Amino acid sequence: MAAPGVSERCGFSVFRHSTAAGGGARTDEYTDEHPEGSLPDTVSSGLRSWNDRLGRGVKAMTEKDAAQTAAKPYTPAFLAIYDLWVIKLSDRYAWRCPAEVMLEPYNKLLGARHLEVGPGSGWFLVNAALASDAEITLLDLNPTPMGHTRRRLHGKARQVHTVTASVLEPLPEETSTGGFDSVGINFVMHCLPGDFTEKGVAFTHLAKVLADDGVLFGSTILNQRPATLFGRALTAAYTRVGAFNNAGDDHAGLRSALEPAFEEVELTDIGDVTLFTARRPRR
Ligand SMILES: C[S@@+](CC[C@H](N)C(=O)[O-])C[C@H]1O[C@@H](n2cnc3c(N)ncnc32)[C@H](O)[C@@H]1O
Repeated sequence: MAAPGVSERCGFSVFRHSTAAGGGARTDEYTDEHPEGSLPDTVSSGLRSWNDRLGRGVKAMTEKDAAQTAAKPYTPAFLAIYDLWVIKLSDRYAWRCPAEVMLEPYNKLLGARHLEVGPGSGWFLVNAALASDAEITLLDLNPTPMGHTRRRLHGKARQVHTVTASVLEPLPEETSTGGFDSVGINFVMHCLPGDFTEKGVAFTHLAKVLADDGVLFGSTILNQRPATLFGRALTAAYTRVGAFNNAGDDHAGLRSALEPAFEEVELTDIGDVTLFTARRPRR
């Protein structure tokens, strides 16, 4: 299962465990000794509230852990082979959507002030036709891909800023000045833990930092059984290590995560990849 791999399975078992240990067991014990309507009500409601808070805290912790796990594989060693393994081989032969196809929105839509979420090896930015005055902001939970991309962009963009943050959290202040002309979020949504009712919050955060006439674009792999054996093998392996969290992802979920944040939404399928563009951020 998706993010579930880490988030749901891990989150739920910890949550259930803490509820049973902290709340259920103690409350039952107390009820046996005291009649209904006296002290036990106060104590049990206190325990319930304590348990609720503990449960929420534990769930938030496990979601953060799952987000960290999803961003972890992008080490210098993996980034060194990323262009060959992911861009050249996997995109074309596992997902049946050559990287050149995903590059088209970059060439058409990338604006002077651009925010790139989860740049990975930076291949898309490096190969896009950037304007010489482009100002690029990279945002990633893992600083390694940003350092790698920044080095590759040297001399290609007027300025490159980096922001270490999760797109699942409200974005830090340095992203909120002015509004970006474009936001790219390519192959990031299928990594994020949770289903679209949870990880869809990323679009709300990004809509806030997009200019009124700006455009968000990206792509993701939804939970359609990949057509190729290569794609199915990669999905199973990446899910096992928590790098893929898309088992519950579908078109309806993606659309219903984008639409509350944007007035115009367009989805296009190519092979096992769904490309999306979104305009007119709702205020
Ligand atoms: C599969 S790579 C995609 C790289 C590149 N965009 C591409 O299409 O080749 C996923 C990227 O998203 C980043 N990432 C994962 N979780 C994130 C999060 N919660 N917030 C921001 N970035 C995240 C990873 O560190 C990595 O750079």
